[in-house]
Amino acid sequence: MKKILFVASECVPFIKTGGLADVVGSLPQKFNREFYDVRVMIPMYSCIPLDLQKKFSFIDHFYLSLSDWVKDKYVGVFKTVLNGITYYLIDNQEYFTCDHPYGDVKRDIERFAFFDKAVLSCLPIIDFKPDVIHCNDWQTGLIPVYLKEQFQAGDFFRDMKTLITIHNLKFQGTWNVEYVRAITGLSDDVFTDHKLKFYKDGNLLKGGLVYSDYITTVSQTYAQEIQTKEYGEGLDGLLYSRRLDTQGIVNGIDPDYFDPSKDASLEVNYSWDDFRVQKPKNKKSLQKELGLELQPKKYLIGIVSRLTDQKGMDLICAAIDDMMDEHTQFVVVGTGERKFEEALLYHASRFPGQMSVHIGYSEKLSQRVYAGVDALLMPSLFEPCGLAQLIALRYGTIPIVRETGGLKDTVIPFNQYEHSGIGFSFQHYSLEDMLGSIYYSREVFLHQKREWNHMVERGMKTDYSWDKSKNKYEEIYYYLT
Ligand code: ADP
Ligand code: GLC
Repeated sequence: MKKILFVASECVPFIKTGGLADVVGSLPQKFNREFYDVRVMIPMYSCIPLDLQKKFSFIDHFYLSLSDWVKDKYVGVFKTVLNGITYYLIDNQEYFTCDHPYGDVKRDIERFAFFDKAVLSCLPIIDFKPDVIHCNDWQTGLIPVYLKEQFQAGDFFRDMKTLITIHNLKFQGTWNVEYVRAITGLSDDVFTDHKLKFYKDGNLLKGGLVYSDYITTVSQTYAQEIQTKEYGEGLDGLLYSRRLDTQGIVNGIDPDYFDPSKDASLEVNYSWDDFRVQKPKNKKSLQKELGLELQPKKYLIGIVSRLTDQKGMDLICAAIDDMMDEHTQFVVVGTGERKFEEALLYHASRFPGQMSVHIGYSEKLSQRVYAGVDALLMPSLFEPCGLAQLIALRYGTIPIVRETGGLKDTVIPFNQYEHSGIGFSFQHYSLEDMLGSIYYSREVFLHQKREWNHMVERGMKTDYSWDKSKNKYEEIYYYLT
């Protein structure tokens, strides 16, 4: 039996700000339980829904010091079992009382440094000795560092291996070296250019990438891209040097959770054999809900996204006047940078009945959007994997994406001569290219409806489950141990 500990800062159903939570919520469920004992550890944020918090049971507590600055901090360990998976939660009210899991980076570095050391420290107490600790993103970057620098001398930790998955290289957890050193209590020789030092900063993700035994990221294309200057966020050299220990493994989604034939938040359920009749009913009720004209034939484009540079929001804002013709409607559900929220609301006010913007995070509304719109627009500047396009495809919605990262690997472009493909894509991050793709997709939607519907059917029948990718993780766990 292999023992795997997943550690992350988000996990569905407890806490979610993006795709990381979907991955950590679904992947651990997929391993064969005869051979894998996979458990998950996250911080016990106060903003976890109360009905879930009620299910947590207290295991033990202890006190933990990182340095002279971070001393004698309380660590509570809680646990709950959901769908047969054990979840551990690390409690400390000073650090994890919050409305949102992330805030100011400087403070977050202290919160997650504490979390990372608490994760390792509690393992003997909960008597779980993982063969592999599977870390995710910068918030867990210090786990491989603490393990090798401070824990591995002890018998309990000697054979433990670490794997770190990069979900987004943009966020690295950096602050000046003196601060990171004072918080973490790591010795001076850890803060060299070959280890945690990054220009004048201490960089927690870099620590994870240098110290972990293996690195994965969430698509093959992104694994290549991050070894280049354009996408490497300053770490391309390091990632290139570790390329033999790096693999891109595309994410899956949970087909039972994202299932239009069962989803209770939809007006009407449907699947690939009746979407032609049923999906339009969801479109109509979405138009009604959002105050759009009840026009079944209009081309309804949607976005469900964080409203940030990564997601191509500047292109979208610049494209609205050219995009919005008399055949088109547009809906946006998202939260993010204030400037994008305001710009989108302003544009919506100029196109009443035609464009609707909902600033906020709502799972139910987002699911009705995936089901109700005809196409989902995702013109990302970069995209490690992207789950929104996979969810869209599952709901019979055609993705229009930029060919980058996981978008390139998952959306095969429509080919009208071969009657193949499941979406539309464009290469360059430019207004012209994006509009070209939108116009082409609209042409197909309005004038080649049979082609469109065949494409929807192909998309809905494609397998986005974890089946193949989970085998690749198993191979890595096997290789490491
Ligand atoms: P990222 O993790 O970079 O934000 P992904 O496409 O991988 O992008 O995952 C985003 C996830 O968050 C998807 O499950 C998407 O449906 C969800 N999501 C994003 N914004 C919202 C929102 N405003 N309301 C509900 N769900 C959202
Ligand atoms: C990150 C990336 C996104 C990816 C998700 C899950 O948030 O931005 O592309 O799908 O992590 O791996």
